[in-house]
Amino acid sequence: MGVAVSEQSGARGGGEERLDEQHLPQDPHARSPDPYPDHLRLEVEEYLEALRFSDEPMTAGLEEAMRYSLLAPGKRVRPVLALATARAVGLAPRSVLPLAGAIEMIHTYSLIHDDLPAMDDDDLRRGRPTCHVAYGQDVAILAGDGLYAEAFHHLLSRQESEPERVLAAAAELAGATGVSGMVGGQYADVREQAPAGPAGVRRLHELKTGRLVGASIVCVLLLAAVDGPATMALRRFAAELGVLFQIVDDILDVIGTDQALGKPRGSDERHGKRTYVSEFGIDRAKELAAESHRTAREALAQGGPPATARAELEQLTDFIYTRTS
Ligand code: IPE
Ligand code: IPE
Ligand code: MG
Ligand code: MG
Ligand code: MG
Repeated sequence: MGVAVSEQSGARGGGEERLDEQHLPQDPHARSPDPYPDHLRLEVEEYLEALRFSDEPMTAGLEEAMRYSLLAPGKRVRPVLALATARAVGLAPRSVLPLAGAIEMIHTYSLIHDDLPAMDDDDLRRGRPTCHVAYGQDVAILAGDGLYAEAFHHLLSRQESEPERVLAAAAELAGATGVSGMVGGQYADVREQAPAGPAGVRRLHELKTGRLVGASIVCVLLLAAVDGPATMALRRFAAELGVLFQIVDDILDVIGTDQALGKPRGSDERHGKRTYVSEFGIDRAKELAAESHRTAREALAQGGPPATARAELEQLTDFIYTRTS
């Protein structure tokens, strides 16, 4: 994919381990990341590029700030997960692009607000000056607000499916980003409200990151109206993948590079954040990432979709585990 690979990539040995359950390398961060389903990412990029929010001249500056952050080179993991899930349950990936676009808009809003001086106070994001550095805090706050509202406007007016399915997906997305999801997790993060102990830090990760990553999968299940026991394993996969995503984010905050990450390394330590690394130390955090990856892969294998239909989800799971950006 079009993101930088860390300096560690040269360490990949001649053995070239295949990343399957039996042959996980001891340290996935000592080699190059697993491949990414770039064909899905390109569909998402093209879709996002075409989005416009208003032709009102008075708000052109706001739209510019929204597009500045939205179109910056993110990995697009959440919308690509939505497209890959669509394939796994028998929908055309393109058919869920409005949902996928809405999810990426919400994710981008969360990054803009997360970087604000009152939050993590970071000045680099997706390899560019953060939104508030480029446009000022007032505009950055509004750009985030605008992306959140436009996301639901887009989903509710553009996503094709039975109305009750679209509503179910919208309700899931709103819940995943609300007080018992992302925003609640961000609150617990900045106000140090997570209970002490390993269960507390896992719960923090489930809320602040896990719910939105998980919703990228669950919303598609709702759109496809595949529910009940058949989707239990896919839902477990979705929940575990979200936690894995944030464990790796915590690890990369310590061992990554600004250049590969496109955001400042060491932000968590600077702010005394509760992370898997602060809780367990770097070596144990890596072991827990490996366990979480294995759990996610097992859930996916039990999830019902035939092997060919779930190949992109498997690829994304491995990428999320081995990524360096
Ligand atoms: C960063 O998300 C914020 C977290 C929830 C950890 P990503 O790592 O997906 O950021 P982009 O979208 O690629 O910039
Ligand atoms: C942020 O977590 C999660 C969000 C909801 C945006 P982090 O603060 O760890 O994300 P990064 O490391 O800045 O991307
Ligand atoms: Mg944060
Ligand atoms: Mg942050
Ligand atoms: Mg982080």
